Amino acid sequence: MSISIALTKGRLEKQTVAMLEESGYGIEKLKDKGRALVFPDTKKDIRYFLVKSNDCITYVEHGVADLGVVGKDTLLEGGKDYYEMLDLNIGKCKFILASLPEIDLLNKVGHIKIGTKYPNVARAYFNQKGMDVEIIKIDGSVELSPILGLCDGIVDIMETGTTLKENGLVVLDDVCPISVRVIVNKASFKMKRDEVMTIIEDLERIVKKHAEGNQ
Ligand code: PRP
Repeated sequence: MSISIALTKGRLEKQTVAMLEESGYGIEKLKDKGRALVFPDTKKDIRYFLVKSNDCITYVEHGVADLGVVGKDTLLEGGKDYYEMLDLNIGKCKFILASLPEIDLLNKVGHIKIGTKYPNVARAYFNQKGMDVEIIKIDGSVELSPILGLCDGIVDIMETGTTLKENGLVVLDDVCPISVRVIVNKASFKMKRDEVMTIIEDLERIVKKHAEGNQ
């Protein structure tokens, strides 16, 4: 049975494609793709398509994609109607709470405002701390918001830490780690179990190989 896989375009794309290739999948065209968005596998009965991270979940939830490859950040913020099957251990970064060094945010008395692209993640973090804060949704360049006085702090992704450093912000707390995950449509897991599990196991072998290489 034919399988469709939604890949997240952008930041994660190169590492994901490299991992698929190493696992024995025929994705040469994805490496020199121009503006194309759909790609047949040259070795197996699979087609790949490139989508934005939130749409990756949507395509999987609706069964248009049997599998999706997407960051845990998007999964934590978005839908829930899929199986999360595998941690590819790539695209590693974390959610952090950060602010200007002069703001003692975690001990601040009174109204606290938090800027973030991830309101659900931020809300869950502060709920678990028992802190009542106002969440302000921001679509990008989140680091600007405390500098301009819109917020007291931010919940955002930190990879190298360069963006925080260059904007004079400091990390107050780690919220949770992030990496790239493979998700599977629930019906596909039943109807195409053998095909889905073959792909998961092929990828899992490479994850293990990388982990052993890092020891
Ligand atoms: C992400 C994130 C941080 C930055 C972290 O933003 O929101 O701003 O990367 O990376 P670093 O720790 O390596 O500096 P992105 O580049 O996706 O742009 P955006 O702010 O426009 O969303």
